[in-house]
Amino acid sequence: MQRLRHCSVFARLPFTVAQSSRQLKKPVPLVSACSGFGSVRWGSSGTDQHYHNSSRRFRFRYALTGLIAGTGAVLAYGLHHSKAEQASASVTEPLSLPIYSQEEVTKHRSLENGVWVTYNGNVYDITEFVAVHPGGAKILLAAGGALEPFWALYAVHKQDHVLEILGEYQVGVLRAEDRVKAAADPADPYSTDPPRHPALSVNSQKPFNAEPPPALLTDSYITPSALFFKRNHLPVPLVDPKTYRLIIEGLPGGPASLTLDDLKSRFPKHTVTATLQCAGNRRAEMNKVKRVKGLNWGISAISNAKWSGARLTDVLHHYGFGPDVASTARHVRFEGLDSDVTGTAYGASIPLNKAVGEDGDVLLAYEMNGEDLPRDHGFPVRVVVPGVVGARNVKWLGRIVVSSEESQSHWQQNDYKGFSPGTDWDTVDFKSAPAIQELPIQSAITNLADGSSVDRDTEDLTVRGYAWSGGGREVVRVDVSLDGGKTWHVAELQNCEKGEEPAPTPSPGRSWAWKLWEITVPLPEGEEELEVVCKAVDSGYNTQPDSIPPIWNLRGVLSNAWHRVKVKVK
Ligand code: MTE
Repeated sequence: MQRLRHCSVFARLPFTVAQSSRQLKKPVPLVSACSGFGSVRWGSSGTDQHYHNSSRRFRFRYALTGLIAGTGAVLAYGLHHSKAEQASASVTEPLSLPIYSQEEVTKHRSLENGVWVTYNGNVYDITEFVAVHPGGAKILLAAGGALEPFWALYAVHKQDHVLEILGEYQVGVLRAEDRVKAAADPADPYSTDPPRHPALSVNSQKPFNAEPPPALLTDSYITPSALFFKRNHLPVPLVDPKTYRLIIEGLPGGPASLTLDDLKSRFPKHTVTATLQCAGNRRAEMNKVKRVKGLNWGISAISNAKWSGARLTDVLHHYGFGPDVASTARHVRFEGLDSDVTGTAYGASIPLNKAVGEDGDVLLAYEMNGEDLPRDHGFPVRVVVPGVVGARNVKWLGRIVVSSEESQSHWQQNDYKGFSPGTDWDTVDFKSAPAIQELPIQSAITNLADGSSVDRDTEDLTVRGYAWSGGGREVVRVDVSLDGGKTWHVAELQNCEKGEEPAPTPSPGRSWAWKLWEITVPLPEGEEELEVVCKAVDSGYNTQPDSIPPIWNLRGVLSNAWHRVKVKVK
């Protein structure tokens, strides 16, 4: 996630007041204020301290407005108030920031002339920041204009610390008429995103990232598509199924191009029940131990669905995959049809043996739970890689490349990797760690919320949740404790909808779906608080670590410690 990387580096930049003052000592053009805000002249000499203080005041106001500017109504409210504040500031603060026209800002679009941008009606000179921007020269795309359309794509920028650092570069404010125009203009790349279920708990609106409430998550064995967690890095692309083409490269005979109909009619349809889990599931618990970078997922960035489509191995063999290719190729790369402002598509890869192995069960899925894939989940085609981290299950699949190299995408190379608890943003070397593929054993309690209470008169307590392991390893046991792990009970496992006949046990190494579990135990007498804990064991006898600190990592991935919930007895 490029955006997150930006933020993390933003957060790491050792900005100090001294540095920001040094930066502000640069000569700032003398500017005449206009449009009803009073006349302001601004120069660099001798006024740094005042400038800095003033800048902080302004920054605080506009950062606040920026943070709440989510809907048109709120934005309008924010602008109205900013304008009112700005107008009053011009009366009470004669030495406030200079006011620039959009025309003036537009002149600053290169390193030679300075790189200026606007955000939420403020003007920033980010010339010196360009060299340290983790996304490199991409930032120049915004030069001379507004950051809003770019931050709408990389919405994770909209965080307090990013705004605070941006504030250090503020050189002025945009004049009133240009502020209004800028607010009305930015095209919203998310405007064609699909409608979503209101029950979802939203972690980020743009791009859309949301999870179902834990209590709903395990109401059914198959998660209804509307409630299935949604993890998008970019706007949801609008794909016309009639003109859709899937390109396959790296096989003898050159690139092949398939229509949706080809995929559906030329290859047998297979259905696989598989759980997808985001690498960041349960990141919120890691965040409580020590802050990590990333969306603050609760315990529901995991869901289970029935996926139908063509097997990837059938398609690759049909287009010429054989021993010749296998002797040099090592990976199968996938590219989505969603792309950022530079046209860079989401991408990921999986090892070749997973892709072509008979037991890999990798699907080019066009159905989810018996219906066309919903737009949020990759319509018209996504790859489903059972047992592998969600990030490799590329949606809106546009291209497959059989290759000797891993995907070079940001998400394969510089994200979704695990590190030691001792690694920080100053020491991390993304090249030193492998991309996450199979995920470790996981379980969580879904029917009891931390801090909730149970009635003392209740005789029995029922605890319910999910358990799943990556790599096709079957969940063989879930242990539950009511006393923080001193004593344990074994829960009952369920691999189908409640009341249905249990599903046949999959062949070893092909358990792709979660198990739901439940246990009812007598409520211990005389306790005022219970620490309810669950931990699962898979067919490789892997179990979850008992606490987070030893597995803490700076990106908050692979968070699978015992799930602990404190419940009051009242
Ligand atoms: N594929 C594309 N093209 N774009 C994306 O942003 N997100 C990935 C993966 N595939 C993503 C993608 C991540 S990080 C996850 S966890 C899963 O999709 C989430 O799938 P879901 O939204 O269907 O739950």
